[in-house]
Amino acid sequence: MPTLDWIGKKAVENHHNEIPFRLLKCDNNLSVGDPEEGNLIVQGDNLHALKALLPYYAGKVKCIYIDPPYNTGNEKWIYNDNVNSPEIKRWLNEVVGREGEDLSRHDKWLCMMYPRLQLLRRLLSEDGGIFISVDYNEESNCRLLLDEVFGSSNYRNTFVVSRVKKNIKEREKVKSANFGHNSILFYSKSNRTLIDPPTKIQEKKVRWHAFDAPGIRPTMEYELFGFKPPKNRHWMYSQNRAMEMINKELLRPNPRSGKPQYRLEESNITMLDTNWTDLQEAGFKWNFPNGEKNVELIKRIVRMISDRDSIILDSFAGSGTTAHAVLDLNKKEGGNRKFILVELEENICKEVTAERVKRVISGYEVEKPKGGTEKVEGLGGGFRYCKLTKPLFDEFGNVNKEVKFEDLARHIFFSETGQPLPEKIIKSPLIGIYDNTAYYLLYNGIMGDKTINGGNMLTSSILKSLPKYSGQKIIFGEGTRLSLSRLRKEGIIFKQIPYEVKVT
Ligand SMILES: C[S@@+](CC[C@H](N)C(=O)[O-])C[C@H]1O[C@@H](n2cnc3c(N)ncnc32)[C@H](O)[C@@H]1O
Repeated sequence: MPTLDWIGKKAVENHHNEIPFRLLKCDNNLSVGDPEEGNLIVQGDNLHALKALLPYYAGKVKCIYIDPPYNTGNEKWIYNDNVNSPEIKRWLNEVVGREGEDLSRHDKWLCMMYPRLQLLRRLLSEDGGIFISVDYNEESNCRLLLDEVFGSSNYRNTFVVSRVKKNIKEREKVKSANFGHNSILFYSKSNRTLIDPPTKIQEKKVRWHAFDAPGIRPTMEYELFGFKPPKNRHWMYSQNRAMEMINKELLRPNPRSGKPQYRLEESNITMLDTNWTDLQEAGFKWNFPNGEKNVELIKRIVRMISDRDSIILDSFAGSGTTAHAVLDLNKKEGGNRKFILVELEENICKEVTAERVKRVISGYEVEKPKGGTEKVEGLGGGFRYCKLTKPLFDEFGNVNKEVKFEDLARHIFFSETGQPLPEKIIKSPLIGIYDNTAYYLLYNGIMGDKTINGGNMLTSSILKSLPKYSGQKIIFGEGTRLSLSRLRKEGIIFKQIPYEVKVT
C-alpha cells in the first residue's frame, strides 16, 4: 500500500504521546448561559487542548469537523509545536508563507496535522466520523495522511462543495481553469459505522405495472377484468387482496388493453450523492475573513452522523460556525447535542468565536438588505469558556501545586486504562474500576487531615478505611508503610506519586 513520507515525519510520529497533559481552567466572565449545558469553547493550541480533553472525552465524540488552514501559501499560519528535532527546530516560530516551489510548506502542514489527527482519532467514538475541509493544495496529501491515521478502509467519501465564482477580464489567458469546488474528506473510526445519508424530498412518482408475475400458482389464476394470467404466470396477489386493491383504486384495467395493472408509488426521497455543489462552502454572515463556512453545510454534516445527544468537536473553530450549526439543529430539529470548539488565537476566540456563539444563543440584530435591522431570535443554551493552564507536572516531574484531586484522579485513570472518567465524578479515594481492577488515589488529603500526610500515605488504618474491592487494586499515594508481602496478600499494587504516574 502506498504511504506518505515527508521531511519531519519521523520527528512527529510519536509527538502526540510526548505532549504533556495540561489542565483546563474555565473563565466565568467569558462563559455564557448555563455552564451545565456541556458545551465548551477552549482557547489555545489544539495540540494541547485535544490532549487536555482526552481524560474527559476519549472515545466519546461522535462527529468531528475541522477546517484547518488550506495552506494556500497566502495564509499566515504558525507552526510552533515544540518538536525536538533539528529539522523542525529550524522551522520553529517561522511563519509559513509562500516559499516558491520548495514544497517545504507541505512538509510543515503535514507535521502540524499528523499529531492533531492522532489525538482526534482517540477522541472519536467507535461509531463516529471525522470530516475535514481541504482544497487542492493539500487534498491529495491529506487523503494519504488520513489513510495512515484512520486506515484506508475507513475512507468513506469526498464531498464537493461550491467555491465562490471568479470574474476575469474578457479574453484573458489564465494558467488553469478556476477551481469550482473544494472538498470535505470523510473517514469513520471503524468500517462498521453507519450514517444517515442526506436526502432530497421530491414529488412522488406514480407508476402502473402489469399485475402478473412468473410461475404457476393455481390459487392466483382467477379471472380479473375478463382476463386470466398469461401462460406460466399468475396474478400478483390472491383474489381477496385484488378486490381490496380495486376498492382502494390501487388496481384497475389498463386504459388501452383492459389487462389488470396495479399502482406503485415510488419513494419521493432521493439519497444525495457526494456532489454537494447545491451548497456554497463559504458563509458570509459574520464577516470572518478566514474561511467562514456556511451553517447549512455544517448542519448537513452533523445531521448525517450525530444522534440527538452526541458530542460534536471542531478544533479549528474560527468564527464558530460548528457551534451555530449544533445549536440550530437542536432548536429546529430537536436534540441536545453538545459542541466543543478550540481556537488558537486569543483575540479571535474571545471577540469572534465566543462572541458569535453568545449572540446566537441570546439573539441578535441583522441589517436588512433594504435598510433597517431585524431581530434574529436566540437559540438558547450556554457554554463554558476555558483556557489551557500549566502542565499537570512541573519541569522536575512533580505534580503542579494547582492540580486538584479530581484533575489527578482523571489523569491517572485515563493514563492507566485509556478510559475517561464520567464528566462529574464523586470525590472518593476509589476513583474507578476497569477491567476487574480498582484504582485508588490518596492525594490532597482525600482521607482527611487526622491521618499521616493528610492520608496520602498508605498505612494499615488507611487501608481499612478505603472503600472495599475484592479483586486487584492499584493504589496511588505518596508512600506506603505496608510491606511487599502484605501488599501482595491484599492484592494491591502500590504506585508512588509522582514517579509512577505516567506524565504524557
Ligand atoms: C479556516 S479557519 C476556520 C473557519 C471556521 N470553520 C468558520 O466557519 O469560521 C481556521 C481557524 O483555525 C485556527 N487555528 C489555526 N491553527 C490552530 C491551532 N493549532 N489550534 C487551534 N486553532 C487553530 C485559526 O486561528 C483559524 O481561526
